[in-house]
Amino acid sequence: MHSTIALQEEKIAFYRQNGFVQLDGVISEEELNELRQCADEAMHIEVSQSAQPDKANRGYSRVLNQRFNTWRDHGGMSRFSLSHRLANLAKQLTGADGIRVFHDHLLYKMPGDSKPTPWHQDIPYWPMKERGALSIWLPLDDVDERNGCMMFVPGSQHVGKLNAVDLVNPQDLYAFEESESVRNTRPVIVPMKAGSCTFHDGLTFHYAHANHTDKPRRVLAIIYMPDGTIYTGEPHILCDHDPSLTAGAPIAGPLYPKLA
Ligand code: SIN
Ligand code: NI
Repeated sequence: MHSTIALQEEKIAFYRQNGFVQLDGVISEEELNELRQCADEAMHIEVSQSAQPDKANRGYSRVLNQRFNTWRDHGGMSRFSLSHRLANLAKQLTGADGIRVFHDHLLYKMPGDSKPTPWHQDIPYWPMKERGALSIWLPLDDVDERNGCMMFVPGSQHVGKLNAVDLVNPQDLYAFEESESVRNTRPVIVPMKAGSCTFHDGLTFHYAHANHTDKPRRVLAIIYMPDGTIYTGEPHILCDHDPSLTAGAPIAGPLYPKLA
């Protein structure tokens, strides 16, 4: 996936103003079919380099089944998670000089007693000093309000970093005193066709609906960061035992490759 997509100026401007943007047709139908197959395989690999943070937490599995860093287990996933084309979109949106991958993230919202993913920002979970990190969220199935599409609060990236939300027992968005402007802004619901995607800033408030259908809602998210992003040393499942990282130094090296 080395071809690049040149984004229209208005998409870039929309992203910078609103903290998210929808981009259609970023992968082909053929690539999508390959990705579906790779993702389903990667979710079931038993002996794994990837991390499955919430396996033991039954409450969490009603929100999401997830795996980090599937590209390390499955060569097929690396075609997508380390894709130059997708990382280059992050570069254009942020205007960063270079983009590294922090990790990939398969997010399956399973049918049966499904819970929404509560309102949250992503940055409070990541051990990064700067705030430029962002995610692509690429559904492998068409998504709408019935099976777990996302909502974003436009412009909410401007409130800055608030406390992390417990995704199983969330405090309400309304619990954040600082977030009055967030509460007073109407969220945008983003139904999408598989193969389209959204990008969202790590500070943008977002939410995903519960899955009330009888099929999994499958998503590949990839977390990108500007090259030079500094590791804070704060706890994180992927970084805690990584000898290549030093608090106060940039997150770099072969586990966080520079892609664009
Ligand atoms: C979800 O896919 O349900 C949530 C994704 C996110 O929080 O970025
Ligand atoms: Ni999130």
